[in-house]
Amino acid sequence: MIKFLLNQQLQVEASIDPNMTVLNYLRTHAAKTGTKEGCASGDCGACTVVVGELITDEHGDQISYISINSCLTFISALHGKQLISVEDLKQGNQLHPTQQAMVDCHGSQCGFCTPGFVMSMFALGKNIASPNKQQIEEALSGNLCRCTGYRPIVDAAKQMYDVKEQDQFDRQQQQTIERLRQLQIDDMPQLSNGNKQVFNPRSTDELAELLSANPTARLVAGGTDLALEVTQFHRELNTLIYVGDIAALKQVEVFYDRIELGAAASLTSCYQALTDDYPDFGALLHRFASLQIRNQGTLGGNIANASPIGDSPPALIALNAQVVLRQGSHSRTIQLEDYFIDYKKTAQQPAEFIEKVIVPRANGNHSFRSYKISKRIDDDISAVLGCFNLTLKDGVIEEARIAFGGMAAIPKRASHCEAVLTGAPWNMDTITQAREALAQDFSPISDFRASKEYRMLTASNMLIRYFIEIENPDADSRVMDITETDRSVVGHYTPAQDSTGGSTHV
Ligand SMILES: Cc1cc2nc3c(=O)[nH]c(=O)nc-3n(C[C@H](O)[C@H](O)[C@H](O)COP(=O)(O)OP(=O)(O)OC[C@H]3O[C@@H](n4cnc5c(N)ncnc54)[C@H](O)[C@@H]3O)c2cc1C
Ligand code: FES
Ligand code: FES
Repeated sequence: MIKFLLNQQLQVEASIDPNMTVLNYLRTHAAKTGTKEGCASGDCGACTVVVGELITDEHGDQISYISINSCLTFISALHGKQLISVEDLKQGNQLHPTQQAMVDCHGSQCGFCTPGFVMSMFALGKNIASPNKQQIEEALSGNLCRCTGYRPIVDAAKQMYDVKEQDQFDRQQQQTIERLRQLQIDDMPQLSNGNKQVFNPRSTDELAELLSANPTARLVAGGTDLALEVTQFHRELNTLIYVGDIAALKQVEVFYDRIELGAAASLTSCYQALTDDYPDFGALLHRFASLQIRNQGTLGGNIANASPIGDSPPALIALNAQVVLRQGSHSRTIQLEDYFIDYKKTAQQPAEFIEKVIVPRANGNHSFRSYKISKRIDDDISAVLGCFNLTLKDGVIEEARIAFGGMAAIPKRASHCEAVLTGAPWNMDTITQAREALAQDFSPISDFRASKEYRMLTASNMLIRYFIEIENPDADSRVMDITETDRSVVGHYTPAQDSTGGSTHV
């Protein structure tokens, strides 16, 4: 069985459908219809709820509140946690400050998106004492409103901070911590319903054993890719193993020479360690989906999903990352680039799983940059993603690692381009030759995100941008005046459907 708190009420479920999402649980099982279904695909934020999870750090036990998309979260992910939906905010006739601010600032018209916005704002209030504009926008980046316009909603997000009193969640915190502690001590939680079942192992050993016994089981981490099979394609997933209760898989550890990221660590929890060494990785993660998706989606899921347009693989490949795979009691470590074999085909064997990702620390000689091109800045998948990591010494390129997403069936290194760069002088002539070599590396396809011509030109223009940025570290190449010489090599391309205006438009 699984146990969780629905606000303060203990829920014990033994036979509920393991494919049921938290959204459907709330609306059909708990008869709480405040949480809305807009898209059932993680895109609109109408289904946003907040999950409270017990965490233990140097300050003792605390509750970490995060916003998630309930439409993409299977019910088993709630075990041992507190689920807060929009109905839980109001106290008697008293609206929660978040709700009151939405009323005062006229942040709602038809109201369909409003519960989702309110829950994102509520999570923001629980995490940041005094957010700036960027933090507010980030918190709301996964919520769409079709009628109000965002200015009044952003105003409401600022105004809710005018109320300084504790809310009921603050007042009940100790009691909630105690109740959540009690939920952690059961045997391995599981659910079974007809031919469907889900297990929540607590350790990597348990996971390895379970997967060996059920090699066709589907692993579920954040579910932000996997749940779409249920919500969009109406498939049934018979045996699921939820990896989000395994503390060892959620660890992020920084050593003197490497960063080790557990496969089930959320993208949000990987953010700081990666950003400290590689600020451009942080910038990329800011543009990865929305905050809700980053709060639940994991690095392991992003890699194992093996999408040619996944954001983390090209960056990790450019950084020479390794992936640790485990099967039974046997672990092996491979280069991440060797994990991807063909479209959606990986080196992962049956009953094998990703345990962790190892990223070398920045050493001062490398210059890492990543450029994500997508139609929207927030909450959008890449059309092209280029990641560049060059080592320069005395005006010569000692080492070049360049990887692209969106240019082939897998996230792939630009080996011909790298060969031209390696050992060559660091100047625009070399960059021009390297751009030409890209044609030997890639033959992209046209699809609704971009045409093949656009992809090729964009990818090669990224090399110019990289050159300009490394040469002018304090300048922002988006607003730099490119010289006539540079302009002649940038090329001119004006496809009819070119609407790829992103923050990294090249
Ligand atoms: C609205 C929306 C926007 C998105 N935007 C982006 C984006 O901007 N960039 C991007 O890259 N992606 C994006 N995604 C895709 C998705 O969020 C990411 O791929 C995410 O990292 C997946 O992680 P997860 O934990 O949710 O994976 P899950 O859905 O839980 O799993 C994905 C796959 O990985 C397998 N798996 C999970 N953990 C392991 C493990 N430890 N070992 C082996 N296999 C495992 C699962 O069995 C499944 O096949 C978006 C998705 C949505 C819905
Ligand atoms: S219903 Fe749209 S994000 Fe969940
Ligand atoms: S108020 Fe109508 S969608 Fe936002």
